[in-house]
Amino acid sequence: MYERLLRIELCGMKMKNPMMLASGILGSYASSLTRLSEHAGAVVAKSVGMEEREGYANPTVINYSHGLINAVGLASPGAVKFAEELSKYEGDAPLIVSLFASEPQEFAALTSYFPMASAFELNLSCPHAEKVGLAIGSDPELVYEVVREVAKSTQKPVFAKLSPNVDVVEIGKAAEEAGADAVVAINTLKGMKIDIVARKPILSNVSGGVSGEAMKPIAVKAVWDLYEELSIPIIGAGGVTSWKDIVEFMMAGATAVQIGSAFYYSNRYFYSLKESLIAYVRWTGERLEDIVGAAHS
Ligand SMILES: Cc1cc2nc3c(=O)[nH]c(=O)nc-3n(C[C@H](O)[C@H](O)[C@H](O)COP(=O)(O)O)c2cc1C
Repeated sequence: MYERLLRIELCGMKMKNPMMLASGILGSYASSLTRLSEHAGAVVAKSVGMEEREGYANPTVINYSHGLINAVGLASPGAVKFAEELSKYEGDAPLIVSLFASEPQEFAALTSYFPMASAFELNLSCPHAEKVGLAIGSDPELVYEVVREVAKSTQKPVFAKLSPNVDVVEIGKAAEEAGADAVVAINTLKGMKIDIVARKPILSNVSGGVSGEAMKPIAVKAVWDLYEELSIPIIGAGGVTSWKDIVEFMMAGATAVQIGSAFYYSNRYFYSLKESLIAYVRWTGERLEDIVGAAHS
């Protein structure tokens, strides 16, 4: 009965709760996306580009005491193969397809490959891949062009995923002005770790993106700042491990919240977080949607 208090609406998409699988984590196969959709409000697939892309050599992910550092390098099977895989998605939660490209026309061309998508998320923020991700997302004019071209290419909602490694509000405003339906804040922060025995960086790419618990206060601040300046919905991401983190992101201004690194520790997260959120709304008697931005007043 209390489960209905978890429902939210995001850019016209009806979601059973505000939790979304973040891109890049368990999002490479239709079978895992379908399974996770049982308790998630929406799932985001791994970012895909037009052509096949190998990514970096191992090691690509480090598990350290407060989260992860990854430099996967946007490994991708390419649009045709990934569309074939995602066509097998059978979940009842909206499937969001995350796109990367090195220029606006290529971003726009990608949308037609994915009829199964309920929305598109634009990766303007991956900090460790050449010519894509943050290379695009650090230039407000280029972000404007990318979002405008993608929005022209599809009727579906378009989300711009932002980086904390640049002025998140400036880029968020450029995306909003160009017609983005929502922004996702935030992708990983630049970071690295050194093996002190080998006296070498651990990641084959030397540095990567820091995610998980350590980044949560930075992500909450990004959501807070965007909420003050933008009118479109904000999707929070970064360091969520408990139901309290979801409530905190929503009070900062997030309509929905993505969860990624936490899945390295358990693949039952959505179920247990959902149960905890039900206990929370039973206590408050309020719809979760009503707490969005509550900390601002
Ligand atoms: C191993 C790994 C791979 C990722 N791949 C992608 C990706 O393909 N596209 C993307 O937009 N973000 C990617 N991310 C970033 C996450 O989607 C998310 O924004 C970030 O990890 C912060 O959330 P978290 O702390 O819950 O993981 C990746 C993160 C990790 C740890």
